[in-house]
Amino acid sequence: MRKEIIKIFAVAFFAHGLLTAQSPTQLLSPHTEAKIDSIIKLMTIDEKLGQLNQIGGTWYDTKTERLNEEQTALLKAGSIGSFLGINGAAETGRIQRIAMEETRMKIPVMFGADIIHGFRTITPIPLAEASSWNPELVERSARIAAIEGAAAGVHWNYAPMVDIARDPRWGRIAEGSGEDVFLGSAMAAARVKGFQGKNLLEYGSLLACAKHFAAYGGAEAGRDYNTVDMSERSLREIYFPPYKAAIDAGAWTLMSAFNEIGGVPSSGSHWLMTDLLRKEWGFKGLVVSDYTAIMELLNHRIAKDSTEAGIVGLSAGVDIDMVSRIYIYKLAEAVRSGKLSEEIVNEAVRRVLRVKFAYGLFNDPYRNAKPEKEKELLLHKDHRAVAREIARQSIVLLKNEKSILPLSTSTKKIALIGPLAGKEHRRDLAGAWAWVQNPDDVVSVIEGIASKLSSQTKVLYDKGCEIESDSGSRISQAVKLAKQSDVVIAVLGESQHVSGEAASKTDLDLPFMQKELLKALHKTGKPIVLVVMNGRPLTLQWEADNIPAIVEAWHLGVETGNALADVLFGDYNPSGKLPVTFPRSVGQIPIYYNHKSTGRPMVEKDKYTSRYLDSPNSPLYPFGFGLSYTTFSYSNVKVSSSSIKKDQKINVSVDIGNSGKRSGEEVVQLYIRDDVATVTRPVKELKGFKKISLNTGEKKTVEFTLMPDDLSFYNLDMKKVVEPGTFTVFVGGNSADYIETKFEVVE
Ligand code: BGC
Repeated sequence: MRKEIIKIFAVAFFAHGLLTAQSPTQLLSPHTEAKIDSIIKLMTIDEKLGQLNQIGGTWYDTKTERLNEEQTALLKAGSIGSFLGINGAAETGRIQRIAMEETRMKIPVMFGADIIHGFRTITPIPLAEASSWNPELVERSARIAAIEGAAAGVHWNYAPMVDIARDPRWGRIAEGSGEDVFLGSAMAAARVKGFQGKNLLEYGSLLACAKHFAAYGGAEAGRDYNTVDMSERSLREIYFPPYKAAIDAGAWTLMSAFNEIGGVPSSGSHWLMTDLLRKEWGFKGLVVSDYTAIMELLNHRIAKDSTEAGIVGLSAGVDIDMVSRIYIYKLAEAVRSGKLSEEIVNEAVRRVLRVKFAYGLFNDPYRNAKPEKEKELLLHKDHRAVAREIARQSIVLLKNEKSILPLSTSTKKIALIGPLAGKEHRRDLAGAWAWVQNPDDVVSVIEGIASKLSSQTKVLYDKGCEIESDSGSRISQAVKLAKQSDVVIAVLGESQHVSGEAASKTDLDLPFMQKELLKALHKTGKPIVLVVMNGRPLTLQWEADNIPAIVEAWHLGVETGNALADVLFGDYNPSGKLPVTFPRSVGQIPIYYNHKSTGRPMVEKDKYTSRYLDSPNSPLYPFGFGLSYTTFSYSNVKVSSSSIKKDQKINVSVDIGNSGKRSGEEVVQLYIRDDVATVTRPVKELKGFKKISLNTGEKKTVEFTLMPDDLSFYNLDMKKVVEPGTFTVFVGGNSADYIETKFEVVE
């Protein structure tokens, strides 16, 4: 046996070229697949289950050895296939050495981590990055995250989160790309490409993991982990495509979601994990459960004990059990007693080994264990430059009455007010899922602003109040500073902790005392620029009615202060557009632009139409909205043909001019509506966007191509079809402001 193992590894070692993974919907070379089978033949049932067992380390503490005695013993016994939350080039190398030298099968372990928006160089939260509408830049941002993560010994990144979210009460809306399927799919693909690089085997690539499969963002009432119940049509049209886009872009792994869908928990859903993912989509990679999701099948009450939970999860197609330890402790007996077929175990192990081969771990188990690289690459200045660029492109200008912005650098006195403006809350600027090791990594707003100004300008700072607590208010001190100043910059919003996982909220106003502070500043009559920092759309109706300038800055990461100052003082003309609708009130949620018409579309003053008595239907700020310091004019929208056949494409062109006084970038958005169809279609759907830059007075023609797939939808038989009839095309700078034309599809 021993000899045979040595032989297998010798072959693995020299077969580098044969391992190259092209796509997660293809098997590896027949040679590598055969090798995987022969390895499986040599494994005991416990060793097989070991590959399906993932344990949590001590997370991001880099100072100590990360495995305790029990974990080390499990590792040596071959009972651990991967780790969660362990990093550090030296420590991961040390642990890998145990796997390679002290286990019988000598199968390398994988190190997984949540590098959601940067590792050490924290970039904007994904929702913010989606506001850039710049997939190339988002890919670069993901690339630097991967380079740093890999340098820190990580192999596998639990990102991107591609869950569509139409409910800002859900804290995890921060981790995704917002409400739209087209934008979300573009961002999903960009991130996968960035994480995985051109070639998974090259240094600096991480395995991507599209999560959370499926529809985790559809939680009822925006409450985290809550039930999802929706039609197969909505799943296929709105929620599934970003996972598919991630796979098409090369993602080798997926994470199963916590939530149930229509009575079946995702992590125990054979339909999702096998029928759809493996059979329909042809996915050959692996699925890892979310944290304790296998154990949670007990809470869902679809399994009476852990053995049953493990059998349901694995048989559904969830290959790796993240931290529940059910597979490793319960399934060997289930196989022995005939409750679980060993072939199901083998198939899961096959997928895990395939991914390890695809990532080149059999070739070089220590590929990322290079401490010198870790020192060189973390927080590299080139990475900071990318972080700054994407941070400024993520900022969305929501309001700018009387062109109060950009501010002049010759302003005499600026009052900088708010808990998020100073150095104290730098960690919060990094947002959810940011493992800021040193607050000094983050440029605060006060530092960013100071770096723009000469000694001629005085910046008077007071935090004004605490970020969440109602006690310790310093409103009177802040007001005093405001009164002495020419302009007030108020930096308010959410802390890191109220955004992300397990951070659902029913009240989306600014925290009470921060709003009191803003109202008091408003009473001074001074011009105010409100900068909001948050992980979700907030309800800003009062602010929109009363404050002349509003800047949506999200949580922007380590370059926050610099990026924000670039925008506030006009060194960068804002170009961000909202990837999610901003409601007027929580009562409007869920609110999204691509809704259906209903049988009684809203008619002003007609009570018996689909509307509210106490609120307009319209959002405060629509999807795709964002201002610039210049203005753009749209004209001359044209289609290449007034009628096309079902299998033909069509081009749309439009002229955009910069009619203002500064050069700037505009995100040109293309929406379509299938006017009449056999199933109801949304009032409009995004099908294209392009970010262009225009100098003052410049005009450009932008072209889009609509492919048959863009015009298709799932018919009553759940088949994707293009139906004959007219389509309306809308082109504009946001989803509510456009020019339009029509074309017809004929048989
Ligand atoms: C989250 C996942 C994450 C996992 C591991 C879970 O609580 O839902 O998104 O990848 O933890 O950290």
